[in-house]
Parts: sequence; structure tokens; C-alpha cells
Amino acid sequence: MNAINKHDKLNVVIVGHVDHGKSSLIGRLLYDTDSLPAGKKEELEGICKKRGVPFEWSFLLDAFQAERDQAVTIDTTQINFSTVMRDYVIIDAPGHREFLKNMISGAAQADAAILVVDASEGVQEQTKRHAYMLHLLGMKQIAVVVNKMDAVKYDPKVFEKTSQDITHYLQTIGLQASSIVPISAREGEMLVDRGSNLDWYRGKTLTEILDSFDVSNMLSTQDLRFPIQDVYRFDEKRVLVGRVETGILRKGDTLFFSPTNEQAVVTSIESWPDDDEIVEVHAGKTAAITLSEPIFIERGHMGSHAEALPMLSNVFKSNIFWFSEKPLKVGNTYRVRCGTMQTAVSVQLIDHVVDTQDLKKTEGASEVAKNAVAEITLRARDVLPIDPYTDNARLGRVVLYDGHNVAGGGHINMEGYPDQRKSSNPKSENIYKVNHSVTPEMRASMLGHYGGVFWFTGLSGSGKSTLAVAVEQAIFALNMNAYVLDGDNVRHGLNSDLGFSPKDRAENIRRIGEVAALQANSGVIILSAFISPYREDRQKARIAAPHCFHEIYIKANLETCEARDPKGLYKKARVGEIKEFTGIDSPYEAPENPDLVVDTEVNDIETCVEQIVNYIEANVKAEIIEEEIKNKKKDLSLVRA
Ligand code: ADX
Repeated sequence: MNAINKHDKLNVVIVGHVDHGKSSLIGRLLYDTDSLPAGKKEELEGICKKRGVPFEWSFLLDAFQAERDQAVTIDTTQINFSTVMRDYVIIDAPGHREFLKNMISGAAQADAAILVVDASEGVQEQTKRHAYMLHLLGMKQIAVVVNKMDAVKYDPKVFEKTSQDITHYLQTIGLQASSIVPISAREGEMLVDRGSNLDWYRGKTLTEILDSFDVSNMLSTQDLRFPIQDVYRFDEKRVLVGRVETGILRKGDTLFFSPTNEQAVVTSIESWPDDDEIVEVHAGKTAAITLSEPIFIERGHMGSHAEALPMLSNVFKSNIFWFSEKPLKVGNTYRVRCGTMQTAVSVQLIDHVVDTQDLKKTEGASEVAKNAVAEITLRARDVLPIDPYTDNARLGRVVLYDGHNVAGGGHINMEGYPDQRKSSNPKSENIYKVNHSVTPEMRASMLGHYGGVFWFTGLSGSGKSTLAVAVEQAIFALNMNAYVLDGDNVRHGLNSDLGFSPKDRAENIRRIGEVAALQANSGVIILSAFISPYREDRQKARIAAPHCFHEIYIKANLETCEARDPKGLYKKARVGEIKEFTGIDSPYEAPENPDLVVDTEVNDIETCVEQIVNYIEANVKAEIIEEEIKNKKKDLSLVRA
């Protein structure tokens, strides 16, 4: 059967338990599709006869690979076959040690998968693990083959039972098999030919199923994602090269680049050696383009259309498969690759470890061991262009490297995390800033001090509110206008619509940051007491009041805070009555470079208050009242009592 009218090649991966007949399936598939050199099977049968061993279809694959291994120029991990419809490439071979890694790292990109299950053994541990891998890879086109039907006498009941089991498992991880087909690789039933023993099965043969899969056309219908791989300069000309991962890139398009937020028009799509006019490039193909503007672009930046941008975030959750011998641990730093972008990330939290057998999630794990699956929270220094895998299965994936080794990888989940691009830009246009005629200096000379934002951050129970209120009293006694903005209070009013998801916390802190900045501009000394667990959110609050923001870390470890438990909330969080409680099942990122650290584990309240008051004084007092403050200070201890 020779191929006619070929379309693009379809990359297929074959997964499943090691003994469920993957090699035989491939051997038989090669034979039945006439993809082997003539006489190969007969030659092998002859050899088997001589040696007195029964012929196995998997020998064909072994022989095929042995030949290829000698031809060093050929990629030994790829096996080709053809149907009438098109060419196929089986990427990677069963048993290949690097197989899973190649899949996860994207070194091998499959368009479709065949999951093999042995009819007599049914769904096994490894079947589930491999199915889960397909889920992590965002694989949508899956054919399940129930192999070795000959060994169960082609019993439809056995097929039915295995179908139900695998369908149920796939469903629970959000996957659906396109078809489930009973086959006998040994007897050549239902691969290409229908055979004579499976009459009760009315569905498609395996090759019919494969032929019904899509190559990369689906990818072209998605939003454009053009990750930049390289930037080349030819004299004045600058050519940007990358692969169009999804969507279609057209000459004349305005491309919007992330994370820089700069845009320019595609003036040409280059082609060489022949100067053919190219006007568009579809998903899966490489493009080399020039732009109308000399905007700053480097490897890792992402081109897209302005109306369908990726998210920008420096924090994301990832559902990963871990390969490394060295376990993944909270606080460890790895290099992450997402699209063509690579950057350092640290592990913020191991949200839970997933048992791929019963899909049970275990929270509170301190590490992820080799071959385990886990959902983790990763944090990068800078914001990155990010697509959740639910939006873009191709780009919503990460690979984690430990040094040069692929250590793990999986897909990105942005549930609950805000798009940081959105929060920084005003929604409406045509808005202008009004300049004040009363300057900060004029206010300071009237009030005797400048305004400022003193941002207390720390775990619940670390002492933020207690200290803020005491400091407010002490500062007020010094004739300065201080005001406490407290988490619990603000959540009764301004932020009563917000909960404790990362997104809501970000919005909570964004609003407070803005309010605190406005009040500080009006001359007030703001003492803000919010857990504000995310560095990024606090950084934004700093940016809102860049000249007068001070981060004060109210330091007490989780054990201490939990022992104090002033509101009984830790107790509730431990028994699951409160979800996403900071320190329990939601992270706290301690400041890296706080302006002041106040340790409430070591010091009593009075000492802490004194430390903070001294710090505030040194940072807000206007020269004109310096002397006066000194005199008043003598009375401070009385006020505190
Ligand atoms: S923040 O994380 O968004 O900064 P914020 O400081 O406003 O939190 O609110 C924290 C207060 O809300 C805590 O002191 C506690 O009384 C209460 N609270 C209720 N649920 C939670 C929760 N899931 N995590 C943390 N605090 C909570």
C-alpha cells in the first residue's frame, strides 16, 4: 500500500505499560502498512526458525532499529510508516530511556497518542501514569487500543470492561479518548485490516482512527503566539526568527510583544535562498520577519496580536512530573523554559503531590520525589508572558532544568492568579493627571512631618495589628498624624468584596497600596497592617508611593503564630474550615530586603514599638520641628503605658 496524496506528517507517540505489546504493535503496524523493506518479515521468520524461537512481531521493530542505529545520520528514535492518507512518525521508541523526558521537554512533540492496554491484564499502574503524562502534555487526540484480544478469545465483555476502566480514569483527569479499539497485534486484527474475529466491533480500525486525527491545522485557528528564538542582524536589517506555535502570522500584522508591551508592524516575511513573496505563516512553521520599528526584542519575547495577548505574571502554578534523582524542594531554584523564554524560578509552595493511581492529593509535602507528580507554585523574578494550558496546550507548558538536566515539566495553571498586565494600566482613556498646588514641603511645614507609608507585613498572628495600633498611639503622642490601615478593618468596608485567593489578595493589596499612597501624599503617616504575602504585590504598593514607602517585616515564624492563634483561625485552617490560610495552605513570601525587621519572637511589644517609632521619626520628620520632637520623646514611655 503506497501512500498517495500525502499531507503533513502526523507525529504519534505510543504509550502504556511496558508489557502490553507496544513493540509488537509497531512491528505489526509497519508490516501491515507496507512500511518495511520487502522480504524483511520472511528473513526474520527464517532466522527465528533456525534458532528455534517463535517469531514475534516485536522482532521487526528491533531489526528495524538495529539497522537504523548503524546509520548514524538517521534519528534512531523516529520510526516512519504510511497509510493511504498520509505519513506518520512514531516519535521515540518504547523502552527508550529518555522517552518521558523527551516528551515533557518538548524535544519530541506529538500530535496524537496511542495508549496501549493489554486485554488480559487491563488498566495497570503504568497505564495510568502514562495517561496522566498525556494529560500533563495537554494531549487531546488519543486512541486507546485494547491489545492482545486473541489472548482473551476476542471476548467483547473483556473489551467492554477495559474500555470502561480506562474511560473512567481518563475522565477523572479531564481527558477523553477519541476512540477505543480492540486489536490483536499478533494476528493483525483491527490495525489496518478488520480481520475476522472482531465482527462485534463496529468502530474504526486503528489506522482509520489515526487518519481522522488532525495534524497542526487546529493550532492555526488559535490565537497567534510567535516566540522569538533569535534576532539576526544583516547590516541595517534586523530579522526576528521563531516558530509560529499557534495562529497565523501575516505580513502587515501589528505584532504586540510581551513582556515589553511594545508593538510594530510586520513589514516582511523573509524567504531564502529564493526570494519568494511570503504573506503568511501558519502554526508549526518557522518565520523570519522584519519590523517597522527598531523596538527592543530578544530571545524569549513573545509576539502576538494586541486583541489576544498572553497573560503577564511572575507567579504561576504548574502541574509537573518530576524526573530528577534530587527531590524538588520548597525554596529551591531551577531554570524554567516556557516557549523560548528561559529564566530562574524558585519553588514557592508544593501545593500537593498527586498519586496518579487514585488521583488522591496530599497536601503539606515538603518535597517531590523522582517520578512523582505534583502541583507546585513557582515564582520568577520578572514577569513572563504566560498562557494557561487550558487556553494554549502548546505554550501553556514548562520544562524545569536543574543545571543542564531536564528535571521536570508539565503544564501551567493560572487559576486565581491575576493578569499583571491588566492591573497596571488604566481602563479608560483620555484621563490626565492634575498637578497639586500645595507641595509636600508646604504640607510638611504645616504638619511638622512628611507623610509616608509604613508597610507592616508578616503572618497572621505575627503582631502587625497590635504593633500598628501601639505605634499609632505613640506617634500621635509625638504630635504627628498617624493612621492605621488594618487588614481586618479594610476587609469590612473598601475590600468587603475580596476573599483570599491570590487574585483577591493582589487586588486587596493593590487598593490599599493606592489608598496608602494617596493618604501619604496628603501628609499622613500610614501604618498599614496586612499579611500581604506576595512580594510582587508589596512591590506594587511600593511603586505606588516610591519616595516614601517603607517595608517593615514583622517577623515571627509559623510555629509561634500558630501557638498564639489570637483569633483561633489557625485551628480552623488546620481542620480545613478555612481554606487558603496563609502559612497553612497558602504561601507567605518573607521580604528579601525589608527596610526594617522587627522580631516579635525575640522582643516584647514595647521594644518593638520603640524600634518602629524610632525608624518612622528618622524618616518623616521635617527639619523645622526636629528639636520639638526630641523634647516630646521624653514622655513617650508614659504614653505607651
Ligand atoms: S492579605 O493576605 O490580603 O494581606 P489581610 O491582611 O487583608 O490579608 O487579611 C488578613 C486577616 O484576615 C487575618 O488577620 C485573618 O484575621 C483574616 N483571614 C480570614 N481568612 C484568612 C485567610 N484565608 N488567610 C489569611 N487571613 C485570613
